[in-house]
Amino acid sequence: MKAVVYEGPNDVAVKQVDEPRVEQPTDVIVRITSSAICGSDLHMYEGRTVAEPGIVFGHENMGIVEQTGSGVTSIREGDRVSMPFNVACGFCRNCLAGNTGFCLTVNPGSAGGAYGYVGMGPYKGGQAEYLRVPFADFNCLPLPPGDEHEDDFAMLADIFPTGYHATELAEVSPGETVAVYGAGPVGLMTAYSAMLRGAAQVFVVDKIPERLGLAADIGAVPIDFTEGSAPEQIAERTDGGTDNGIDAVGYQATVAEGEEQPAVVLNDLIATVRPTGTIGVVGLYLPEDPGAPSEDAKHGRLLIDMGSYFEKGLRMGSGQANVKAYNRQLRDLIIEGRATPSFVVSKRLPLEDAPEAYERFDNRERGYSKVVLKP
Ligand SMILES: NC(=O)c1ccc[n+]([C@@H]2O[C@H](COP(=O)([O-])OP(=O)(O)OC[C@H]3O[C@@H](n4cnc5c(N)ncnc54)[C@H](O)[C@@H]3O)[C@@H](O)[C@H]2O)c1
Ligand SMILES: [Zn+2]
Ligand SMILES: [Zn+2]
Repeated sequence: MKAVVYEGPNDVAVKQVDEPRVEQPTDVIVRITSSAICGSDLHMYEGRTVAEPGIVFGHENMGIVEQTGSGVTSIREGDRVSMPFNVACGFCRNCLAGNTGFCLTVNPGSAGGAYGYVGMGPYKGGQAEYLRVPFADFNCLPLPPGDEHEDDFAMLADIFPTGYHATELAEVSPGETVAVYGAGPVGLMTAYSAMLRGAAQVFVVDKIPERLGLAADIGAVPIDFTEGSAPEQIAERTDGGTDNGIDAVGYQATVAEGEEQPAVVLNDLIATVRPTGTIGVVGLYLPEDPGAPSEDAKHGRLLIDMGSYFEKGLRMGSGQANVKAYNRQLRDLIIEGRATPSFVVSKRLPLEDAPEAYERFDNRERGYSKVVLKP
């Protein structure tokens, strides 16, 4: 079958690879109908992780069940399903607590597994014709048959639940003010989720006009950080700061001039959130970054303004989203017409176009902010 394979920094190719097969009785094989490219893929694509060539990319997967293992009970051939980007077992202590992003079974020696991602276990990605899904009864979310809401449901594997998780980490409550750093697909889904939760006012910080425009379209207040300090712009529009704040940027954050400073968003959040507020961090930080600007940052050690953080009595939550904790509820919001996360989707392309799509998304070109591949 054809699949998107990582060949080295700034290089992916569509190559012929072995078709997956049922390896365990609890596996299913899914024929992929949609697999989206994610900002998380770009960290690997740019050579900013320890990813080795040969990885099949793709953790935002949905499709039709093609084959089931003998031990699968709730999922049948022909079912339309969405898979959380997390691979999880469903029975370890973290899964039982709902923390499926930190499964202790699927990636021994580590907490958490995922499809097509460095350090997240041996699971191949779904930017391919077929995908093997382990512990399928647990990892498949059934969807209504047909092809209605395909783009909306394609957001259920990662960014919609991740945006929602960010608001959960930041404890967003009705009537509150929220600052979201990053207007990429994850930041936009975070702002959207904050509104679903009843936030009174949501600020979205970025510098890319197209993305800030989408934020404004959903009713958020766009803040361009090249037009002056974002914390100051937000302080002027609030009672000295927001109730909570969210990092949807991660370690490749830049300052206005374009230079990378891995701690700039965390420090901006400490400055933005009012005393005793809460910060949620879903933007990615890694223990090893071969391309970091300093020796400490190469090992994930960042200079955080701990003094202000403590003085303000702030709290912070972080990590991979536990997609399974939210995907069923968010699916039902889509089905009932209460949520349409597909507003972030900018292009649908065949698998063959993946190399160009990666390059253009990486350059943050207009129209490439969320590409869904259609194998
Ligand atoms: N925790 C999770 O489970 C999870 C899931 C998916 C993605 N992620 C991570 O979330 C992050 C965002 O993903 P994405 O797909 O939206 O990526 P993206 O790269 O498309 O978006 C990042 C945005 O941040 C903006 N940005 C850069 N510096 C900034 C600054 N100082 N202030 C404000 N904005 C700034 C960029 O202009 C860009 O628009 C990535 O780090 C990704 O790896 C985490
Ligand atoms: Zn993703
Ligand atoms: Zn588990």
